[in-house]
Amino acid sequence: STSLPALPAFRSRVVPVVVLQDAAHAVPLAQALLAGGIDVIEITLRTPCALEAIAAVAREVPEMQVGAGTLLSADDVRRAQDAGARFGLSPGHSPALLRAVAEAGLPFVPGVMTPGEVMAAREAGYRLMKLFPATVAGGLDMLKALASPFGDVRFCPTGGVSLDNLGGFLKQPNVALVGGSWLAPAAALRAGDWNQITALARQATELSAG
Ligand code: 3PG
Repeated sequence: STSLPALPAFRSRVVPVVVLQDAAHAVPLAQALLAGGIDVIEITLRTPCALEAIAAVAREVPEMQVGAGTLLSADDVRRAQDAGARFGLSPGHSPALLRAVAEAGLPFVPGVMTPGEVMAAREAGYRLMKLFPATVAGGLDMLKALASPFGDVRFCPTGGVSLDNLGGFLKQPNVALVGGSWLAPAAALRAGDWNQITALARQATELSAG
């Protein structure tokens, strides 16, 4: 359907999936990723500081397109949107979640890992879906298999994506984006090693261009 709100525009084809333990890490992380060419970030609602972190990035790093990840409930959708998330992502989807997202008017990437889940998300109007957990679901073989019946669906494989396999994923015609947590290692966040994060982002940016 054309009535669903579009994702904000961003250049990067690699979406860092981040779990933050401290909201104060959010702005320097966003700046470090931008310095490495990545202008999109998924901040997961897995920690108590996630909403504050989303709000800080939305407020202070406007050129970073900040999405809220791990949206599991209607409440998560509302809280993420109130915090300033420009879009949402989920590991899966449910009727209640899709209703909440539609009511909120939040651009959204539902998670799928079976043909039936692709069909349900497609019926709800979605054409970009997160394949999760991507390598467990079969990785490239699964994406190739899904391409035949679902020629109008694009995927963001996430879960098991790394520097070693992202190039192969991004060459697959029905892959629009890839997601992964390796771009923001917990140890680098703890140590405030923003240069390491910029270096990881730059590596990913270069590989995704090639
Ligand atoms: C997650 O659930 O944390 C994301 O899918 C990232 O998975 P990864 O750690 O395998 O990149």
